[in-house]
Amino acid sequence: MDVTMTVNGVESTRDVEARTLLVHHLRENLDLRAANVGCDTSSCGACTVLLDGEAVKSCTVLAAQAAGSEVTTVEGLAAADGTMHPVQAAFRAEHGLQCGFCTPGMVMATVSLLRDNPSPTERQVREGLEGNLCRCTGYHNIVRAALAAAETQKPVSA
Ligand code: FES
Ligand code: FES
Repeated sequence: MDVTMTVNGVESTRDVEARTLLVHHLRENLDLRAANVGCDTSSCGACTVLLDGEAVKSCTVLAAQAAGSEVTTVEGLAAADGTMHPVQAAFRAEHGLQCGFCTPGMVMATVSLLRDNPSPTERQVREGLEGNLCRCTGYHNIVRAALAAAETQKPVSA
């Protein structure tokens, strides 16, 4: 079946099998490989992307279900001139990645978290990211990165 969606601002139509998962569609049909497949149980969050602005585990969504939607992957976060998104910059500055496998999902989950709660407490960050697992167990710096990104994104008061 033909499935049309807008991914990182670019509309594309592909012929996909009905059973194709969104993560496989992104990786194999659209060559966007940041969203990783880390589990078979919908539990690791490595495949997290934004679907119409909401963080979803893209291994739990059929590509066909995303037809007509806006999808954002970590490849679509940086500005056109290459300037990193504040969350990406914070992960870099705070050493929020080790092997990097979980990082795309962590970054997208953090973007969504901060959109819903621009000034989270540390506990709220930990709760908000608990659906994302880091096999390198580097949670401390990930949480620091999320808090640092929240600070960066705060509007400057006059
Ligand atoms: S690959 Fe989607 S949650 Fe693990
Ligand atoms: S940085 Fe390696 S899995 Fe998280």
